[in-house]
Parts: sequence; C-alpha cells; structure tokens
Amino acid sequence: MRYVKTGATGLDLCIRKSFPYLTYRTAFIALIVCVASLCAPFSWAVTEKEAEVRESGRLLAVLLDSGRVVIGQNQDLINDPEKGNKGFTPEVFAQQTMALFKTRTGQDLANLPTAAIPDMAKPLLARLLEESKKTVASYQIVINLKGVKYKGLIPATFGTETGSRFQAWSGVYLKQTAPEHLLRNPKNKPDALEIAAMQKMGDPSFPRDGDHSLSDVVDEGKTVHVVFPLFYGKACMSCHGSPKGERDITGYPREGAKEGELGGIISVKLPVP
Ligand code: HEC
Repeated sequence: MRYVKTGATGLDLCIRKSFPYLTYRTAFIALIVCVASLCAPFSWAVTEKEAEVRESGRLLAVLLDSGRVVIGQNQDLINDPEKGNKGFTPEVFAQQTMALFKTRTGQDLANLPTAAIPDMAKPLLARLLEESKKTVASYQIVINLKGVKYKGLIPATFGTETGSRFQAWSGVYLKQTAPEHLLRNPKNKPDALEIAAMQKMGDPSFPRDGDHSLSDVVDEGKTVHVVFPLFYGKACMSCHGSPKGERDITGYPREGAKEGELGGIISVKLPVP
C-alpha cells in the first residue's frame, strides 16, 4: 500500500506536466512511459524484498540441516553404550553447528549484527539456534546413559523436533518431509507444493552440491515457499539403504535407497512483510 500511494502522487505530477504541451497521442505515450518508470522502482523494491525473504528461508534451512549433519557426525559418540558422560552438551553442539554454518554460508552466527544477511533473518536464525540447543538439551539424560545403544537422537528426530519448536515460537512453517514412497513418519507427509518441488529436485539435473534451494511466491503473493534438498549420502545408508525391508537400528524397515537420491526436503514458508 505504501508503494502504491507514492506511485500515484508521482503519476499525477507527470500527467499535469505533460498535458499543456502535448497532443493526446503523445500524452498517452508519455503517460505509458511515466507509469513504466514509476512501476520499475516499485517492482524492483518488491523483487528485492522477495529476494530477502527467499534468502532468509534458505539460511534457515541450511542452519537446520547443519544441526542435522552435526548430530550425524556425532552419532557413534551419542550411541556409544560403553561411555557414560559423552560431553556432547548443547554448547558443544552449537559450536560445531555454527562452524559448519560458517563454512557453508560464510556467515558467523556469533556476530549476527554485522553479518551480511537480510535483517529479517537475524532474529530467526538466532532463535533457531536456541531451539536446536533445546532439542539437544532435552536428550542429555538419555545420551549420557551407559549400556543403551540407541538413544532416539538422530538427524531426523532432531530436525522434526527443532522444526516444530521453532514454528511454535515464530509461526514460521519449518519442517522436513520426504517423497511418499520414502516417507517414514506420517506427520511429515508432504503437501501439494512440496510434492511438486521434490519432483524438480529429484531430477538428476538439479545440482547436488552448493546448498541450492528452490523458492516460489505463493498464497497470492503473501508467502514465500523455500525448499531445500536433503540428498542421501553414505551416512544415511545404514538406515535408508539396503537390504530393502530389513529393519535399521531405529526399528524402521530400510527403503533400499541409493546414494545421491533425494531423501527429502526441508520446507520453509515465510510471510512476505
Ligand atoms: C539412524 C538411522 C537414520 C539415519 C542414519 C538417517 N535417517 Fe533419516 N530417518 C530415520 C528415521 C527413524 C526417520 C523417521 C523419524 C521420525 O519418526 O520422525 C527418518 C526420517 C527422515 C526424513 C523425514 C521424512 C520422513 O520420512 O519422516 C528425511 C528427509 C530423512 N530421514 C533423510 C535422511 C537423510 C538425508 C539422511 C542422511 C543424511 C538420513 N535420513 C539418515 C532414520 C535415519
């Protein structure tokens, strides 16, 4: 609304300046030129705002995925039945996650005010890190138990629990989902938008490296939907790989998936301010 009002005032001026000297035809052309030149900064401003929302969504997804990867990297330690206190505290987790996020994005979450990221993303990223630490905190007693092999803290449960914690605080939709033939938890069922995005990302032409995301403006321009791929790597195969049907450590049957295949996505829906 703000932009429209500014545009109307400029347009009014344009017409009044043009009319005394010009024929109707040239006045009409002048009018078109005026409208176009006034619309250009308007659409540029809209495009820039949208680009910020898209980048904010991508950064949130990369941060949630960095937490997932750190849980995966510490999986043997977390599951070690011989060891009591693991020293895998929320602070240790946060340091490793921030380091990984920095490697992937170049941005330092310890220095958020000066980071070259959209302003709207800063409080959201700070909160997502907090909620991630809370998930790790909630598993401390179980993690530090001796004699237990499987503690329930794996990348997927970390992602699901942190996503819903963050969503409860921010209202920003943040979840993991998977193509229906791979879906384990029915709560993670994809919606139509997510199914369409996964079809694009599952195509071999979609880049496997470089943290590329897809985004679209939906909901009559009110929402930006960002989708971030989770490709199966070696570390995923012990649970999602072969032999198909045989139960993994968590009790789910393996899907017989292959390395490089799209295992799922992180889906973020942010309101356009
Ligand atoms: C220790 C076993 C294990 C490993 C390793 C593992 N997963 Fe999973 N994954 C699971 C379980 C169990 C669930 C279901 C969690 C739940 O109940 O919410 C799951 C769920 C998921 C989901 C959410 C959608 C769904 O099916 O509910 C995605 C996406 C996913 N895994 C991808 C991956 C990727 C990619 C990797 C490797 C980076 C990976 N997983 C490694 C066990 C594993």
